[in-house]
Amino acid sequence: MPTALITGATAGLGKAFAQTLAAEGTGLVLVARSDRDLKELAGALREEHGVAVEVLPADLSTDDGCAAVAARLAVGPVAERTDPPPVDLLVNNAGIGHERPFLANGIAAEERLLDLNVRAVLRLTDAALGTMTGRGHGSILNVASVAGVGPSWLSSTYPASKAWVISFTESLAYSRQVRDAGVRMTALLPGYTRTEFHQRAGIPTTFPPSYLWLNSADVVRTGLADLRRGRVVSIPSLRYKAAAWALRHLPRGLSRQGAWDISADARS
Ligand SMILES: NC(=O)c1ccc[n+]([C@@H]2O[C@H](COP(=O)([O-])OP(=O)(O)OC[C@H]3O[C@@H](n4cnc5c(N)ncnc54)[C@H](OP(=O)(O)O)[C@@H]3O)[C@@H](O)[C@H]2O)c1
Repeated sequence: MPTALITGATAGLGKAFAQTLAAEGTGLVLVARSDRDLKELAGALREEHGVAVEVLPADLSTDDGCAAVAARLAVGPVAERTDPPPVDLLVNNAGIGHERPFLANGIAAEERLLDLNVRAVLRLTDAALGTMTGRGHGSILNVASVAGVGPSWLSSTYPASKAWVISFTESLAYSRQVRDAGVRMTALLPGYTRTEFHQRAGIPTTFPPSYLWLNSADVVRTGLADLRRGRVVSIPSLRYKAAAWALRHLPRGLSRQGAWDISADARS
Protein backbone atom coordinates (compact mmCIF):
# COMPACT_ATOMS: atom_id res chain seq x y z
CA MET A 1 0.00 0.00 0.00
CA PRO A 2 1.51 3.39 -0.98
CA THR A 3 1.55 6.13 1.65
CA ALA A 4 0.72 9.84 1.16
CA LEU A 5 1.41 12.67 3.62
CA ILE A 6 -1.04 15.56 3.25
CA THR A 7 -0.66 18.92 4.99
CA GLY A 8 -3.79 20.92 5.81
CA ALA A 9 -5.71 17.64 5.61
CA THR A 10 -8.71 18.46 7.81
CA ALA A 11 -10.59 20.89 5.55
CA GLY A 12 -11.11 21.96 1.95
CA LEU A 13 -8.68 20.65 -0.65
CA GLY A 14 -6.58 18.72 1.89
CA LYS A 15 -9.63 16.79 3.10
CA ALA A 16 -10.62 16.09 -0.52
CA PHE A 17 -7.08 14.76 -1.17
CA ALA A 18 -7.40 12.52 1.90
CA GLN A 19 -10.81 11.18 0.82
CA THR A 20 -9.75 10.58 -2.80
CA LEU A 21 -6.48 8.88 -1.92
CA ALA A 22 -8.03 6.75 0.83
CA ALA A 23 -10.70 5.57 -1.63
CA GLU A 24 -7.86 4.46 -3.93
CA GLY A 25 -6.36 2.40 -1.08
CA THR A 26 -3.50 4.76 -0.20
CA GLY A 27 -2.31 4.84 3.42
CA LEU A 28 -2.25 8.36 4.88
CA VAL A 29 -0.34 10.63 7.22
CA LEU A 30 -2.62 13.58 7.97
CA VAL A 31 -1.14 16.90 9.13
CA ALA A 32 -2.94 20.00 10.48
CA ARG A 33 -3.02 21.89 13.79
CA SER A 34 -6.25 20.54 15.25
CA ASP A 35 -5.65 17.16 16.88
CA ARG A 36 -9.38 16.62 17.35
CA ASP A 37 -10.22 17.23 13.65
CA LEU A 38 -7.33 14.99 12.58
CA LYS A 39 -8.48 12.10 14.78
CA GLU A 40 -12.09 12.47 13.66
CA LEU A 41 -11.13 12.38 9.97
CA ALA A 42 -8.66 9.52 10.47
CA GLY A 43 -11.34 7.42 12.21
CA ALA A 44 -13.85 8.05 9.42
CA LEU A 45 -11.34 7.17 6.67
CA ARG A 46 -10.18 3.97 8.41
CA GLU A 47 -13.75 2.86 8.86
CA GLU A 48 -14.89 3.73 5.34
CA HIS A 49 -11.86 2.62 3.32
CA GLY A 50 -9.91 0.24 5.59
CA VAL A 51 -6.62 2.10 5.04
CA ALA A 52 -3.87 2.86 7.57
CA VAL A 53 -4.10 6.48 8.75
CA GLU A 54 -1.57 8.25 11.01
CA VAL A 55 -2.21 11.69 12.45
CA LEU A 56 0.53 14.23 12.97
CA PRO A 57 -0.64 17.46 14.61
CA ALA A 58 1.75 20.29 13.73
CA ASP A 59 1.70 24.03 13.17
CA LEU A 60 3.67 24.35 9.95
CA SER A 61 4.21 28.07 10.40
CA THR A 62 6.65 27.15 13.21
CA ASP A 63 10.12 25.60 13.21
CA ASP A 64 9.07 22.81 15.57
CA GLY A 65 6.03 21.92 13.47
CA CYS A 66 8.09 21.72 10.28
CA ALA A 67 10.79 19.68 12.05
CA ALA A 68 8.24 17.10 13.29
CA VAL A 69 6.78 16.60 9.81
CA ALA A 70 10.22 16.64 8.15
CA ALA A 71 11.30 13.86 10.54
CA ARG A 72 8.33 11.72 9.43
CA LEU A 73 9.21 12.38 5.76
CA ALA A 74 12.83 11.40 6.39
CA VAL A 75 11.79 7.84 7.32
CA GLY A 76 13.29 5.61 4.65
CA PRO A 77 13.02 1.89 4.02
CA VAL A 78 14.89 -0.32 6.45
CA ALA A 79 14.87 -4.02 5.56
CA GLU A 80 13.53 -5.36 8.84
CA ARG A 81 11.18 -2.46 9.65
CA THR A 82 7.66 -2.21 8.24
CA ASP A 83 6.31 0.59 10.40
CA PRO A 84 6.06 3.48 9.80
CA PRO A 85 6.15 3.12 6.02
CA PRO A 86 8.11 5.62 3.92
CA VAL A 87 6.07 8.37 2.26
CA ASP A 88 5.52 7.90 -1.50
CA LEU A 89 3.51 11.08 -2.10
CA LEU A 90 3.84 14.42 -0.32
CA VAL A 91 0.99 16.90 -0.81
CA ASN A 92 2.11 20.35 0.34
CA ASN A 93 -1.37 21.78 0.61
CA ALA A 94 -1.69 23.85 3.84
CA GLY A 95 -1.84 27.55 3.04
CA ILE A 96 -3.52 30.76 4.14
CA GLY A 97 -4.49 34.14 2.71
CA HIS A 98 -5.26 37.46 4.35
CA GLU A 99 -8.03 39.92 3.70
CA ARG A 100 -6.20 42.93 5.16
CA PRO A 101 -3.86 44.87 2.87
CA PHE A 102 -0.11 44.71 3.41
CA LEU A 103 0.37 47.92 5.37
CA ALA A 104 -2.62 47.29 7.66
CA ASN A 105 -1.95 43.62 8.26
CA GLY A 106 1.14 43.83 10.44
CA ILE A 107 4.44 42.18 9.70
CA ALA A 108 3.88 39.27 12.10
CA ALA A 109 0.82 38.11 10.13
CA GLU A 110 2.66 38.55 6.83
CA GLU A 111 5.59 36.52 8.12
CA ARG A 112 3.22 33.77 9.28
CA LEU A 113 1.78 33.61 5.77
CA LEU A 114 5.24 33.27 4.25
CA ASP A 115 6.28 30.74 6.90
CA LEU A 116 3.35 28.49 6.01
CA ASN A 117 2.93 29.11 2.26
CA VAL A 118 6.64 29.19 1.42
CA ARG A 119 9.00 28.09 4.18
CA ALA A 120 7.07 24.94 5.13
CA VAL A 121 6.89 23.92 1.45
CA LEU A 122 10.65 24.42 1.18
CA ARG A 123 11.43 22.40 4.30
CA LEU A 124 9.07 19.53 3.64
CA THR A 125 10.14 19.26 0.00
CA ASP A 126 13.75 19.11 1.14
CA ALA A 127 12.98 16.33 3.62
CA ALA A 128 10.88 14.35 1.14
CA LEU A 129 13.33 14.66 -1.75
CA GLY A 130 16.14 13.40 0.47
CA THR A 131 14.46 10.00 0.88
CA MET A 132 12.61 9.89 -2.47
CA THR A 133 15.74 10.47 -4.54
CA GLY A 134 17.53 7.83 -2.43
CA ARG A 135 14.74 5.32 -3.09
CA GLY A 136 14.48 6.27 -6.80
CA HIS A 137 10.76 6.84 -6.47
CA GLY A 138 8.22 9.34 -5.13
CA SER A 139 5.97 12.29 -5.99
CA ILE A 140 5.39 15.77 -4.62
CA LEU A 141 2.30 17.85 -5.33
CA ASN A 142 2.59 21.50 -4.28
CA VAL A 143 -0.68 23.41 -4.08
CA ALA A 144 -0.09 26.91 -5.50
CA SER A 145 -2.82 29.06 -7.10
CA VAL A 146 -3.74 30.75 -10.38
CA ALA A 147 -3.25 33.91 -8.31
CA GLY A 148 0.51 33.20 -8.46
CA VAL A 149 0.69 33.41 -12.26
CA GLY A 150 0.51 37.19 -12.67
CA PRO A 151 -0.98 40.39 -11.24
CA SER A 152 -4.08 39.17 -9.39
CA TRP A 153 -4.38 40.67 -5.89
CA LEU A 154 -2.75 44.03 -5.21
CA SER A 155 -1.41 44.85 -1.72
CA SER A 156 -1.26 41.16 -0.82
CA THR A 157 1.72 38.88 -0.32
CA TYR A 158 -0.44 35.82 -1.11
CA PRO A 159 0.13 35.88 -4.92
CA ALA A 160 3.87 36.35 -4.35
CA SER A 161 3.94 33.31 -2.06
CA LYS A 162 2.15 31.22 -4.71
CA ALA A 163 4.40 32.55 -7.51
CA TRP A 164 7.29 31.21 -5.43
CA VAL A 165 5.63 27.78 -5.13
CA ILE A 166 5.14 27.58 -8.91
CA SER A 167 8.67 28.69 -9.72
CA PHE A 168 10.23 26.45 -7.04
CA THR A 169 8.30 23.40 -8.25
CA GLU A 170 9.22 23.99 -11.91
CA SER A 171 12.83 24.58 -11.04
CA LEU A 172 13.16 21.25 -9.22
CA ALA A 173 10.77 19.16 -11.33
CA TYR A 174 12.72 19.77 -14.54
CA SER A 175 16.14 19.32 -12.92
CA ARG A 176 18.29 16.28 -13.72
CA GLN A 177 18.75 15.69 -10.00
CA VAL A 178 15.03 15.09 -9.48
CA ARG A 179 13.99 13.66 -12.89
CA ASP A 180 16.86 11.19 -13.13
CA ALA A 181 16.02 9.95 -9.64
CA GLY A 182 12.49 9.04 -10.78
CA VAL A 183 10.74 11.65 -8.66
CA ARG A 184 7.77 13.60 -10.05
CA MET A 185 6.78 17.09 -8.97
CA THR A 186 3.69 19.09 -9.92
CA ALA A 187 2.41 22.54 -8.96
CA LEU A 188 -1.40 22.56 -8.75
CA LEU A 189 -2.96 25.95 -9.55
CA PRO A 190 -6.62 26.08 -8.50
CA GLY A 191 -8.84 29.08 -9.07
CA TYR A 192 -11.63 29.99 -6.62
CA THR A 193 -12.58 26.73 -4.92
CA ARG A 194 -15.33 26.23 -2.34
CA THR A 195 -13.47 25.45 0.91
CA GLU A 196 -13.02 27.17 4.29
CA PHE A 197 -10.15 29.29 2.93
CA HIS A 198 -12.02 32.55 2.28
CA GLN A 199 -14.06 32.38 5.47
CA ARG A 200 -10.93 31.75 7.57
CA ALA A 201 -9.17 34.71 5.93
CA GLY A 202 -12.21 36.98 6.14
CA ILE A 203 -12.22 37.30 2.34
CA PRO A 204 -15.68 38.01 0.88
CA THR A 205 -17.07 35.29 -1.37
CA THR A 206 -19.80 37.40 -2.93
CA PHE A 207 -17.68 38.93 -5.72
CA PRO A 208 -16.82 35.90 -7.89
CA PRO A 209 -19.84 34.78 -9.95
CA SER A 210 -20.94 31.19 -9.39
CA TYR A 211 -19.44 29.90 -12.67
CA LEU A 212 -15.96 30.80 -11.35
CA TRP A 213 -16.22 28.50 -8.33
CA LEU A 214 -14.62 25.07 -8.55
CA ASN A 215 -15.43 22.06 -6.46
CA SER A 216 -12.59 20.63 -4.39
CA ALA A 217 -13.10 17.00 -5.53
CA ASP A 218 -12.68 18.08 -9.20
CA VAL A 219 -9.55 20.10 -8.39
CA VAL A 220 -8.02 17.14 -6.56
CA ARG A 221 -8.89 14.68 -9.34
CA THR A 222 -7.23 16.90 -11.96
CA GLY A 223 -4.15 17.53 -9.81
CA LEU A 224 -3.57 13.82 -9.15
CA ALA A 225 -4.19 12.89 -12.81
CA ASP A 226 -1.73 15.54 -14.03
CA LEU A 227 0.89 14.45 -11.48
CA ARG A 228 0.57 10.85 -12.67
CA ARG A 229 0.85 11.98 -16.32
CA GLY A 230 4.07 13.82 -15.47
CA ARG A 231 2.67 17.36 -15.98
CA VAL A 232 4.66 19.89 -13.99
CA VAL A 233 1.94 22.56 -13.91
CA SER A 234 -1.69 21.54 -13.42
CA ILE A 235 -4.55 24.03 -13.87
CA PRO A 236 -8.00 22.56 -13.25
CA SER A 237 -10.80 23.69 -15.61
CA LEU A 238 -10.75 25.37 -19.01
CA ARG A 239 -11.78 28.75 -17.60
CA TYR A 240 -8.77 28.93 -15.31
CA LYS A 241 -6.44 27.60 -18.03
CA ALA A 242 -7.63 30.57 -20.11
CA ALA A 243 -7.21 32.96 -17.17
CA ALA A 244 -3.65 31.71 -16.55
CA TRP A 245 -2.83 32.07 -20.26
CA ALA A 246 -4.07 35.68 -20.17
CA LEU A 247 -2.11 36.46 -16.99
CA ARG A 248 1.05 35.06 -18.59
CA HIS A 249 0.71 36.52 -22.08
CA LEU A 250 -1.20 39.79 -21.95
CA PRO A 251 0.86 42.94 -21.38
CA ARG A 252 1.33 43.38 -17.63
CA GLY A 253 -0.43 46.77 -17.66
CA LEU A 254 -3.50 45.21 -19.23
CA SER A 255 -3.76 42.16 -16.97
CA ARG A 256 -3.26 44.43 -13.93
CA GLN A 257 -6.59 46.07 -14.84
CA GLY A 258 -8.40 42.93 -13.72
CA ALA A 259 -6.48 42.59 -10.45
CA TRP A 260 -8.31 42.89 -7.13
CA ASP A 261 -6.84 45.71 -5.03
CA ILE A 262 -7.55 44.63 -1.49
CA SER A 263 -6.36 48.01 -0.16
CA ALA A 264 -9.19 49.69 -2.10
CA ASP A 265 -11.82 47.39 -0.54
CA ALA A 266 -10.31 47.23 2.91
CA ARG A 267 -12.40 47.97 5.96
CA SER A 268 -9.27 49.06 7.88
N1 LIG B 1 -9.90 27.72 -1.82
C1 LIG B 1 -9.42 28.39 -2.86
O1 LIG B 1 -10.14 29.14 -3.53
C2 LIG B 1 -7.97 28.21 -3.24
C3 LIG B 1 -7.59 28.68 -4.51
C4 LIG B 1 -6.26 28.53 -4.90
C5 LIG B 1 -5.35 27.93 -4.06
N2 LIG B 1 -5.75 27.50 -2.83
C6 LIG B 1 -4.74 26.88 -1.96
O2 LIG B 1 -5.18 25.58 -1.61
C7 LIG B 1 -4.57 25.19 -0.38
C8 LIG B 1 -5.63 24.61 0.54
O3 LIG B 1 -6.56 25.62 0.82
P1 LIG B 1 -8.07 25.34 1.20
O4 LIG B 1 -8.86 26.26 0.37
O5 LIG B 1 -8.37 23.91 1.20
O6 LIG B 1 -8.05 25.90 2.72
P2 LIG B 1 -8.94 25.59 4.00
O7 LIG B 1 -10.27 25.01 3.63
O8 LIG B 1 -8.92 26.84 4.80
O9 LIG B 1 -8.10 24.44 4.78
C9 LIG B 1 -6.85 24.77 5.34
C10 LIG B 1 -6.23 23.53 5.99
O10 LIG B 1 -4.90 23.87 6.38
C11 LIG B 1 -4.72 23.65 7.79
N3 LIG B 1 -3.82 24.67 8.31
C12 LIG B 1 -4.02 26.02 8.38
N4 LIG B 1 -2.98 26.62 8.96
C13 LIG B 1 -2.07 25.64 9.25
C14 LIG B 1 -0.80 25.63 9.88
N5 LIG B 1 -0.24 26.77 10.36
N6 LIG B 1 -0.15 24.45 10.03
C15 LIG B 1 -0.72 23.30 9.58
N7 LIG B 1 -1.92 23.24 8.98
C16 LIG B 1 -2.59 24.41 8.83
C17 LIG B 1 -6.15 23.72 8.37
O11 LIG B 1 -6.33 22.97 9.57
P3 LIG B 1 -5.98 23.59 11.04
O12 LIG B 1 -6.66 24.92 11.11
O13 LIG B 1 -6.50 22.58 12.02
O14 LIG B 1 -4.49 23.69 11.10
C18 LIG B 1 -6.94 23.05 7.24
O15 LIG B 1 -6.83 21.65 7.35
C19 LIG B 1 -3.87 26.43 0.17
O16 LIG B 1 -2.49 26.35 -0.09
C20 LIG B 1 -4.50 27.57 -0.64
O17 LIG B 1 -3.63 28.67 -0.76
C21 LIG B 1 -7.04 27.61 -2.40
